[in-house]
Amino acid sequence: MNLDWENLGFNIMQTDYNVRAVFRDGKWSDLEVYSEQTIPIHIGATCLHYGQESFEGLKAFAGKDGQIRLFRHAENAHRMSISAKGILLAVVPESLFMEAVEKVVLLNKKYVPPYGTGASLYIRPLLIGTGPEVGVRPAREYTFLVFVMPVGPYFKEGFKPVDIMICRDHDRAAPLGTGHLKVGGNYAASMSSVAEAHEKGFATALYLDAREKKYIDECGPANFFGIKGNTYVTPKSHSILPSITNRSLQALAEDMGMSVEVRPVPVEELAEFEEVGACGTAAVITPIRKIVDVDMEKTYTYGDKYQPGPVISKLYQTLTGIQNGDLEDRFGWIKILE
Ligand code: PLP
Ligand code: COI
Repeated sequence: MNLDWENLGFNIMQTDYNVRAVFRDGKWSDLEVYSEQTIPIHIGATCLHYGQESFEGLKAFAGKDGQIRLFRHAENAHRMSISAKGILLAVVPESLFMEAVEKVVLLNKKYVPPYGTGASLYIRPLLIGTGPEVGVRPAREYTFLVFVMPVGPYFKEGFKPVDIMICRDHDRAAPLGTGHLKVGGNYAASMSSVAEAHEKGFATALYLDAREKKYIDECGPANFFGIKGNTYVTPKSHSILPSITNRSLQALAEDMGMSVEVRPVPVEELAEFEEVGACGTAAVITPIRKIVDVDMEKTYTYGDKYQPGPVISKLYQTLTGIQNGDLEDRFGWIKILE
């Protein structure tokens, strides 16, 4: 495969195959392989009208040995089942989810970016209500599908510090809403504030807790964490997505002898961190240089403009080293696809 691997952005790209299963009459079909990129869908489908959908995001990496490594896909399978229960979608059995992910990666093997390019294969599982309803109620039919594409960094800066903006005039999720689920409505709710952040020259928006606007929640597409001395601090909140990357970084931080605190993080504490970052599958670790609280006319600045801090750099090297097989997988996070 001849692609400009080093210069891929985070963009849609057609690959050869996607896999699909349908839930009808109370049961899931077997997986089917498609080359078609579109889905014929009933105009009354609940995903179109009432946002009855959930998606996932995970990655596969090629090692120096050419082997393809999947990162923690059982965790994504589990999170999709939690999202499904949360908005009354048919639950995809976790074994079916994992089988679909493994199958679609192997079918599109030639699109897995080679070792050393910094790119990876992004895997997007999707679960949608395809049965028609006009009243607000769950569909009786669902489609689960998985497609893939090679991607580079989510933020164009890659592993370089970015500036972000605190958003005080929008919430992405209500205190007792769906922020902890990976469902489309949260992303629709975030679009205008992320667009506003972009217009103002920031990489993304940082949300505060919707109830009191006192605590940090998370960034548009990623969790937030800060480093204070030998401690890794990250927000505890019902309205943020439980990030698999964040949980992995917590394990790595502990393994490096750091302590980990998962607790409400007051906005003022931003002044006390030495390093801060955004983390997620797409964002990997994106170091943050500056956080601007526009409405409060306050700016928090961290470290060097061009260089991520030492703790974030070490976490990044360790995480990506495990993902591409340079470092031993002592945590059991990798499945090598044969
Ligand atoms: N927060 C939001 C809103 C996200 O969309 C994502 C991406 O999936 C994350 C956090 C990071 O989660 P993960 O590390 O599981 O990809
Ligand atoms: C991911 O990191 O996989 C995400 O889903 C974030 C964003 C692309 C929505």
